[in-house]
Order: sequence, then structure tokens, then C-alpha cells
Amino acid sequence: MTESRAIASESAAAVDLAAMRAQYRTDGIAEADFPEEPFQQFARWFEQAAAEAADPAGVLAEPNAMIVSTVDGEGRPSSRTVLLKGVDERGFVFFTNYESRKARDIAGNAHVSLLFPWHPMGRQVIVTGTAERTGREETVRYFRSRPHGSQLGAWASAQSSVIASRDELDAAYAELAARYPEGEQVPAPPHWGGFRVLPDTVEFWQGRTNRLHDRLRYTREASTWTLHRLSP
Ligand SMILES: Cc1cc2nc3c(=O)[nH]c(=O)nc-3n(C[C@H](O)[C@H](O)[C@H](O)COP(=O)(O)O)c2cc1C
Repeated sequence: MTESRAIASESAAAVDLAAMRAQYRTDGIAEADFPEEPFQQFARWFEQAAAEAADPAGVLAEPNAMIVSTVDGEGRPSSRTVLLKGVDERGFVFFTNYESRKARDIAGNAHVSLLFPWHPMGRQVIVTGTAERTGREETVRYFRSRPHGSQLGAWASAQSSVIASRDELDAAYAELAARYPEGEQVPAPPHWGGFRVLPDTVEFWQGRTNRLHDRLRYTREASTWTLHRLSP
């Protein structure tokens, strides 16, 4: 038995993790093809990821799912997936509970990172920057566009807090569903809203053969962006 097999047999998953690797055969990315700022480039890649997700033969799911990492008061990081709900020259927007762990972290330390894991395309985009709350109007506009059930869910869930049971959550939802039947306007909860991540760096990563990947990273200095190539 090889060493990697031994590790695999001891791991919780009965899979040979050490032997798992994809070989990327994609074309590279060149500085000359990249625009002066990252938003246009992000829009291009996002469009391609969305097309991949829409392809019935493709395997990329939820191209707007991104991992947001925050840091607490003791410097301990934590990560979770959220959905990108808006992006423009100002930044990347997601919505969440303002009393959640991530929101509490951001209140103490606005530095965050976002990661888009577009594995089926051999790509990732990594953003670092600072998060700020969106305006109330922007939150309400988005909240109204959500399905009725999701609107109720935002009220029913005290996100990140410990609850006694699933029943407690279902009971809270049922009570709200009785108060606001389908078709009735649900107000946006005051403890719920958006964060906009203002980027300082945006890295575009393209997998290539032999682990010689392409990494092009934009860095913001005041209002100008510079593009550097990083060693993989
Ligand atoms: C695909 C996917 C999308 C998600 N989208 C969101 C989202 O947009 N907003 C949100 O608050 N949580 C979302 N979640 C749940 C979060 O990952 C997380 O469980 C929750 O926000 C609580 O995180 P926290 O306790 O670290 O603050 C999503 C989870 C998954 C798997």
C-alpha cells in the first residue's frame, strides 16, 4: 500500500485524497487582453461562468456563489458561501443578517475576502477589500424582489444563533406565514441587509498544465488600478 493509500484509508472519506488532482488544459490569459480595471474583466468571466452554468451539459452550479471570509476580534478567520447579488464599479454586493457572525466580524474589522470557485472552468477569482453596509433603500429594493418564502425566512431566522430544535424554526416560519399570506407585502427586517465589498485587489486565476497557472492581479492605488502577474 502506498503512503497516499494509507492516508486515504485512515481519512473519514473513503477516497484517495492525495491522488485527486485535475490536469488543466485551458488556454492562458494575457495581460494585453485585460482591461485597465477589474470590473469589466470580472463581467466577462462572470458572463462565461453563467453561460457554463446554463449549459445543460455543463456542471458549474450557482456561478454567483462566492465564499466570503471574515476575521473576528481575536484574529480568527471564518468562511461561508453567500450569493453575489450585484456588482458594478463600486463593488460586490451580498445580502445577509446584520446580527450574523459574519456581520459581527465585519462591524469589528471591515477587511474581507471573496472567492468565486469556478472549478469546472479551472478558474477562480479572489477579491480582497473592505465591506460596508448598503443603503436601506438598496436593501429594501432587493428584499422586495425575493420570493415570498425567502422574505419570511429572513424574519424567521436569527441567523448564527443556537436554536433548540428544527421545530422552533418551523413554528416561527408558520407564524409569519399566517401573518403575511402569499401576496401580502412583507416588510424588510431591520436586522437584514446588504454589504458592498469595495475591492483593493482582484485576482483572476486560470488553471494551466503542469501547475504553471496564470495569475493576474489588479491592485488599487487611490483610483487607479495596476495589473501584475503572480507566480503560480
Ligand atoms: C450556495 C449557498 C448560498 C448562500 N447564500 C447566502 C446568502 O446570500 N446570504 C446569507 O446570509 N447566507 C447564505 N448562505 C448561508 C451561509 O453560507 C451561512 O450559513 C450563513 O450566512 C451564516 O453564516 P455566519 O454564521 O458565518 O454568519 C448560503 C449558503 C450556500 C451553500
